[in-house]
Amino acid sequence: MRSAVAALSSLLAFATVLAAQVPAEQCTVCHGDAAQAFGRGVHADEGIGCTTCHGGAPDTLDQDEAHGDDLVSLTDARAAVESCGTCHSDARRMQSSKLRTDVWTLYQTSRHGLRLAEEEGADVATCVSCHGAHEVLPSLDPRAPIHRSNQAESCGVCHTDSAKMEPYGLDATVVDDYRASVHGEAVLSEGRLSSPACADCHGAHGAKPPTVAEVGHVCGECHTLARDNFERGPHMEAVRAEKLDECISCHGHHRVDRPSTAMLLGDANGNCGSCHDAGSEAMTIATVMHAGLSRLDERIDETERTLALAAAEGLFLEGERGYLDDARSLRLRAGPLTHSLSPELLADLVNRGDAMIEQTLESLDVKNRALRDRRIFTAVYLAAILALVAVLLLYRREIYGGAWGARDRGEDALRGGTG
Ligand code: HEC
Ligand code: HEC
Ligand code: HEC
Ligand code: HEC
Ligand code: HEC
Ligand code: HEC
Ligand code: HEC
Ligand code: HEC
Ligand code: HEC
Repeated sequence: MRSAVAALSSLLAFATVLAAQVPAEQCTVCHGDAAQAFGRGVHADEGIGCTTCHGGAPDTLDQDEAHGDDLVSLTDARAAVESCGTCHSDARRMQSSKLRTDVWTLYQTSRHGLRLAEEEGADVATCVSCHGAHEVLPSLDPRAPIHRSNQAESCGVCHTDSAKMEPYGLDATVVDDYRASVHGEAVLSEGRLSSPACADCHGAHGAKPPTVAEVGHVCGECHTLARDNFERGPHMEAVRAEKLDECISCHGHHRVDRPSTAMLLGDANGNCGSCHDAGSEAMTIATVMHAGLSRLDERIDETERTLALAAAEGLFLEGERGYLDDARSLRLRAGPLTHSLSPELLADLVNRGDAMIEQTLESLDVKNRALRDRRIFTAVYLAAILALVAVLLLYRREIYGGAWGARDRGEDALRGGTG
């Protein structure tokens, strides 16, 4: 008993340190860890205290009195969601922080929320699994579990666990697939946060509820050029007729790879030939588009190598690099245009790309010729100087011939010849 009192008094000292952040509640004396975590979160600055969420009596160090009869532990998922929801759906309470007030309502429409309503104690995501209970951080804080760069890990707590996913018939590979995708790599390895994480495609609380039916449209929200071109092509009809799933039928959803012309004619996932028969109109179009694009790709690479060689010879190539960059950006525009499935539209861009390559090579040729002319001129110039030096030497020998001749017997014959 005595040691318990000693421990309590040392905790009391600790609690005074925390008092600056946490309203003076005696709960913090006995619950140091919870109090510390809470002190680091957003709610501590809002005049919210332990009793706001848990109930109990804040001003006593007697455990029974403190807990009272109405203490709620909130470890029950439904109770927690209701507790967080009371404030976060209350427009008045959210007014000063301008936070959205639909999170609770949306959550109820999500796969997570629906399951929780159906099945008490279901192990689904709740406000607490995504945001934490005590150390709740703003979503833009890089340490927050739902920050873009942490979602793969936070959602992965359940979505990589096949024992948890199996009862619901869900795949436990979605997170690993996402990690290996162009999007996952951009977010997780390169910190490019314009690329999507889980909630960008699925919605956080449920606007696009974490269900699959509506997610296919989400790609076009970011890839507007690809979408606009897709919508003008014949595949849009196939989507309307429910024969095709917009973007994901070719690119997949989690494991989106970097596309290449091998999707047109080749063995990349989602290649045209995986749905269309050889000899069909579709494959004719694929062949024409493939020919144009892969030729442009090759010419861009080849020209890049040519420029590198020329630069190694000491040529200054700013203009030529500019032309080549223009060719590259035309190639970048050709990518989304493939979705129109219009060889004519594509041919126009490819031809302009080709023209920029021509311009690069012509401009390089002019510089190469100038370089060659300069070299020939230098050689002729050097030869002329050498000839002049030789003549001067001969002339000098002419003048001082006698003095040299005395030292050099070979000179005698020469002198005989000239004299
Ligand atoms: C004198 C120390 C003491 C005080 C004061 C105290 N608690 Fe506790 N609390 C404990 C201990 C010890 C436990 C764990 C044992 C138990 O479950 O009864 C506990 C358990 C809890 C639990 C978990 C209950 C569960 O069912 O898992 C919650 C929630 C809690 N306390 C909240 C509070 C709040 C809120 C206050 C202030 C109003 C408070 N406590 C004040 C000592 C204290
Ligand atoms: C914004 C609401 C909220 C506030 C404020 C809050 N808690 Fe909690 N607390 C929760 C929720 C939700 C859980 C359940 C967490 C879980 O299931 O993992 C919880 C769990 C607990 C538990 C039991 C589980 C554990 O982590 O040991 C204790 C004890 C506890 N809180 C103490 C406190 C104390 C002490 C304070 C004040 C410093 C406090 N809480 C403030 C929401 C809150
Ligand atoms: C599946 C994970 C998940 C669940 C469950 C979840 N959230 Fe969120 N929450 C997020 C993500 C991700 C964001 C940031 C993106 C956004 O604002 O849409 C966010 C943002 C928020 C915000 C900031 C909103 C704003 O205006 O910027 C609040 C407040 C919030 N959540 C509260 C809650 C509450 C309350 C619950 C329970 C009813 C809950 N969340 C359930 C993932 C979740
Ligand atoms: C008593 C009312 C209240 C309760 C209960 C409450 N919150 Fe909050 N919450 C707020 C207020 C007020 C803010 C604004 C804080 C600020 O602006 O710094 C906030 C901020 C947040 C934020 C930060 C949003 C952002 O991006 O800036 C999140 C996330 C959040 N709460 C989640 C939760 C979760 C999860 C729970 C339940 C464990 C919960 N809240 C319970 C009142 C509450
Ligand atoms: C605590 C565990 C847990 C966490 C954390 C969690 N989920 Fe879930 N999630 C589940 C369970 C269980 C289901 C299955 C519910 C059902 O089908 O009834 C599910 C269902 C889903 C579904 C619906 C799939 C379908 O086709 O029915 C999506 C999408 C989803 N979660 C996305 C997310 C995202 C995104 C995150 C992180 C922001 C996340 N989940 C975090 C447990 C979790
Ligand atoms: C680029 C958009 C995108 C991103 C990012 C994304 N998803 Fe998905 N996800 C989808 C689409 C689209 C589907 C529906 C696929 C279908 O209809 O078959 C889906 C389906 C799912 C499913 C249901 C799978 C099943 O077995 O039926 C779950 C669970 C899921 N996603 C969770 C996640 C999690 C967790 C993350 C983050 C690691 C994530 N998703 C990231 C687009 C995305
Ligand atoms: C939140 C915006 C966003 C959403 C939603 C989104 N993407 Fe992306 N996507 C990006 C960004 C940004 C990049 C560039 C990544 C990088 O930095 O490498 C990218 C890259 C790509 C690439 C590779 C592009 C290239 O030139 O190499 C493909 C293909 C792609 N996304 C397809 C999809 C598909 C399919 C979906 C829907 C299932 C989707 N995206 C959803 C933003 C998004
Ligand atoms: C019929 C198959 C197919 C469908 C459906 C499809 N794509 Fe593509 N996508 C391709 C091919 C093939 C390429 C590669 C073209 C190339 O070599 O540049 C590509 C390239 C891309 C690129 C990278 C090129 C760039 O620079 O933009 C993005 C991003 C992209 N697609 C997004 C989408 C989006 C968004 C949708 C849905 C609106 C979609 N795709 C639907 C086949 C498809
Ligand atoms: C995931 C399957 C799939 C892939 C991959 C695919 N298509 Fe299609 N495509 C379809 C479907 C379905 C239709 C509609 C056919 C119908 O209505 O019977 C269609 C229709 C077309 C049409 C309209 C003429 C016709 O045959 O009905 C063209 C042209 C076409 N696709 C070209 C392409 C090209 C080029 C590629 C590669 C970039 C490609 N498709 C990749 C499924 C696919």
